[in-house]
Amino acid sequence: ARVSLWGGRFAGGPADALAALSKSTHFDWRLAVLDVTGSVAHARVLHRAGLLDDAELAGMVEALDRLRVDVESGAFLPAPDDEDVHTALERGLIERAGPDLGGKLRAGRSRNDQIATLVRMYLREQARALAVQVLDVVDALTDQAAAHPEAPMPGRTHLQHAQPVLLAHHLLAHAWPLLRDVERWVDWDVRAAQSPYGSGALAGSSLGLDPAAVAAELGFDGPVENSIDGTASRDAVAEFAFVSAMVGIDLSRLAEEVVLWATKEFGFVRLDDAFSTGSSIMPQKKNPDVAELARGKAGRLVGDLTGLLTTLKGLPLAYNRDLQEDKEPVFDQVDTLSLLLPAFAGMVATLTFDTRRMAELAPQGFSLATDVAEWLVRHGVPFRVAHEVAGSCVRRCEAQGIELWDLTEADLAEISEHLTPAVREVLTVEGSLASRSATGGTAPVQVAQQLTRARARSVQL
Ligand code: ARG
Repeated sequence: ARVSLWGGRFAGGPADALAALSKSTHFDWRLAVLDVTGSVAHARVLHRAGLLDDAELAGMVEALDRLRVDVESGAFLPAPDDEDVHTALERGLIERAGPDLGGKLRAGRSRNDQIATLVRMYLREQARALAVQVLDVVDALTDQAAAHPEAPMPGRTHLQHAQPVLLAHHLLAHAWPLLRDVERWVDWDVRAAQSPYGSGALAGSSLGLDPAAVAAELGFDGPVENSIDGTASRDAVAEFAFVSAMVGIDLSRLAEEVVLWATKEFGFVRLDDAFSTGSSIMPQKKNPDVAELARGKAGRLVGDLTGLLTTLKGLPLAYNRDLQEDKEPVFDQVDTLSLLLPAFAGMVATLTFDTRRMAELAPQGFSLATDVAEWLVRHGVPFRVAHEVAGSCVRRCEAQGIELWDLTEADLAEISEHLTPAVREVLTVEGSLASRSATGGTAPVQVAQQLTRARARSVQL
């Protein structure tokens, strides 16, 4: 017979179809060890409130410790009739401590405050582990930047050649958002570090239990201010899900570039054999699957966030069973990122850049036209005029099928009296890069300092 936690009120057990629908052990079992930890803390507050004597506390803790060992080894598993992780563990406790002692632990707590606390404990742990893996990607990026301190590449807007930039500057532009994602998890933890334990089903406990003591024992900063909020809100879960989705988005932006860069047409990077795949039919193929999977998994990570937010929308206070649906999306995000991040870090670390080709393309597409205009401004020409003059240079080059630096002195003079031969000093990629030397710019001196700061930030986090 199916054992339920609410025998008294019910004449019969749940229908098979309900039991099947209700069941969550296939996903919430990953919280089992944390649930045992929570139970030990709960046993201690029961003892402090005089609801367990010394011998009972000792027996309870001993039984819970054995249960933990059996959960960890896999000797104790949820049974087909256990509804959720809490039901299964209560069965396990009663098997070990006997029904009289084992049956005392449930006093003053509800699965509602229990699950709300466990999800926070789990996500706080996972956020720390994932942050380390994100920082591995950041470090792969900063190492690549350090290995290419002076290499230029075409900087793009609208995917069109815009202005030359340093490859290191471009790579660091992918590192900073990932550093901010890690900062987001750190900020998030301040809000997630409030323990709902002691909220009971929704109204708090009448048994003289101390929520602050449980909170401290479970590594929280303190208990939640409001027992209804503690059991009914999932914004802490949603915020975690947003950061996870954002990591996916940030990886996918770089992933898309790697896919492009690895094409014959770009020819900017070669992928290491260990981080690319071949084709079962085309012997020549080398495919950027890590990058493509990153791009694809970003969709999945966003889907998890969207699904979760949609579940939460319009839920009345306090606990509703809908909230059982909060876990699978974030568990999926944790699993997805744990798989993706190490592969992604490895791919980035082992990219080989064709810096010759990137340098060759950097000034093409008239990407130095802005430098001509700004050179004119430095020589007292109003920008509106300077823009027109530089534009005329481009038009003439395009008509003649030449580049800006091919314009003769006569060409320049004919376009504008302001265009003296000295303008050529900015018609090189090096000159252009060096001129963008304000903070945050792509000049090599600035990028070197930026790299130092990015590395320091990664170490700090
Ligand atoms: N398994 C549920 C969840 O994940 C917790 C149980 C609460 N159930 C209940 N009937 N109040 O949210």
